[in-house]
Amino acid sequence: MCGIVGVLGDHEAAPLLVEALKRLEYRGYDSAGIATVNEAGRLDRRRAVGKLVNLSDLLVHEPLSGRAGIGHTRWATHGAATRENAHPHRAGRVAVVHNGIIENFRALRAELAEDGIEADSETDTEVVALLAARHLEQGMTPDEAVTATLERLEGAFALCFLFEGEGDLLIAARKGSPLAIGHGEGEMFVGSDAIALAPMTERITYLEEGDRAVISRAGAQIFDADGRRVNREMREVRLDAARIGKAGYRHFMAKEIAEQPAVIGDVLSAYIASDGSAVSLPLEGLDFRNISRLTLVACGTAHIACLAAKYWFERYARLPVEVDIASEFRYREAPIPPGTVALFVSQSGETADTLAALRYAQGKADKTVSLVNVPESSIARESDIAVPILAGAEISVASTKAFTCQLTTFALMALHAARQRGELDRAGLAAQLADLRRLPGLMSHALAIEDALREVARELAEARDVLFLGRGQMYPLALEGALKLKEISYIHAEGYPAGELKHGPIALIDKATPTVVLAPHDGLLDKTVSNMQEVMARGGPVLLITDSRAAESAAEGAWAQITLPEAPEFVQPILYALPVQMLAYHAALALGKDVDQPRNLAKSVTVE
Ligand code: F6R
Repeated sequence: MCGIVGVLGDHEAAPLLVEALKRLEYRGYDSAGIATVNEAGRLDRRRAVGKLVNLSDLLVHEPLSGRAGIGHTRWATHGAATRENAHPHRAGRVAVVHNGIIENFRALRAELAEDGIEADSETDTEVVALLAARHLEQGMTPDEAVTATLERLEGAFALCFLFEGEGDLLIAARKGSPLAIGHGEGEMFVGSDAIALAPMTERITYLEEGDRAVISRAGAQIFDADGRRVNREMREVRLDAARIGKAGYRHFMAKEIAEQPAVIGDVLSAYIASDGSAVSLPLEGLDFRNISRLTLVACGTAHIACLAAKYWFERYARLPVEVDIASEFRYREAPIPPGTVALFVSQSGETADTLAALRYAQGKADKTVSLVNVPESSIARESDIAVPILAGAEISVASTKAFTCQLTTFALMALHAARQRGELDRAGLAAQLADLRRLPGLMSHALAIEDALREVARELAEARDVLFLGRGQMYPLALEGALKLKEISYIHAEGYPAGELKHGPIALIDKATPTVVLAPHDGLLDKTVSNMQEVMARGGPVLLITDSRAAESAAEGAWAQITLPEAPEFVQPILYALPVQMLAYHAALALGKDVDQPRNLAKSVTVE
């Protein structure tokens, strides 16, 4: 959460800072701000509450000049979304932008107050600027001042400092929050991720835990946590403009939903052997025959992907699976018996709770494995085995294509485990892989029902509460449908296993509370249809999402029906992600909500 950026440019920094912040806005949009040092060495800043566009408007009336600058887009943690709390924070000759949380800021504030130094904001970040400014006053150089400041900080941070009178200096530091340095031609950049820097450069160095970088236009000197000068690899990060732009779509979410046939095709080509007979996931050193239990841990949509994976691993590989929410797992002191592999799922690879859960499992689990979308992320780097889910940059706050790529990678892993454990013979594996290969085509057909979904979504958008029901492997999809809907349309929604309805939630049913039932033709269809009848018998309108085969027996009495192509049971959870995503998208559009940037949320949750 929060995006930070720094520029030592050849031209004016402000437009570059704003452009980079645009690409980081998915990390938070409570306020935005920039600071620059102009040609006379003067440090100045502009800050505006709300989305980046407000800062851009402010800069039209009150421009900032200078070729050196820093910028920030905020997801508020300490203090409301006000101008005073917006970054950059400034004290004396220094300005700073921060992503993370300074956990000991109260103690530091009290210490500064004893010296008569008062903070202007409610943020944890301001103490960083105040400490650095005090050290500068004491006669330290900027680098000495930053080093002395960093020694005092507890918690997580990615920081970038800018100094009055220093038009060729940025100092960046990383502990717990990611930070990338970009190398241009006689220009240097800093960003929370490579996407932010994509228009400026593709040559990126990722800072490691505890690193500090002293940056001038000539390059970056990097020091590790012990203050030793170190070399960190510079890599070319190719971020295809089409993958990080909207490519003509109205929203990133729409584009990312539409990309799913293509990215699922990428996952399948990467992870199925060319002759179609075996799974070729990068799982070196992991033998599912030696495992007695799999523990899957994640947050949000990634956690729902784990719930779906449980059905596959248990049913096809006969491997017991436990699924946990990272923020619970990390503090529960869960015993991890020998024979357990702990697997962590995260699109960003930076989610604070998932990272902490991974660290808890290290040394206890036989192996730690991660499924990540960002291969350079902390979770990828710190796990024994990291499997990229190959979704490409996901910008919309609501996760869509990362979810289906997580599911597809999990499905392949479950088949691989089943084969290794002798639960699936060669022909059985080949048949399941052939079914998976049908997914891109099935998904393209599913996307074609968008017009019908738009219509029902308009009506659904009038509801105050919505229930989602599914049985067996459709249950996690009911959870995902509810999460997507509440996240972007702000309609209250709950997902339930269909059989659980009569144990409480059925009391909610009335004619104003629609129920979305996910019921493809599978072994549990009749049971789900009975639960659906129970809803309709109580006057509840039902939207049935089904396939052509099940529709004949299931659809009677439903308020509305969406019919997907018939699909093999194994791949149904992946296919059924599409209609629930589109339903949420069109409900949010009908209500005029900001689909890509829903209120109170941020894409990368790097704080607890
Ligand atoms: C929902 C959503 C969130 C994330 C969750 C985990 O649409 O995007 O629930 O799934 O914050 O994020 P990652 O996968 O980055 O760890």
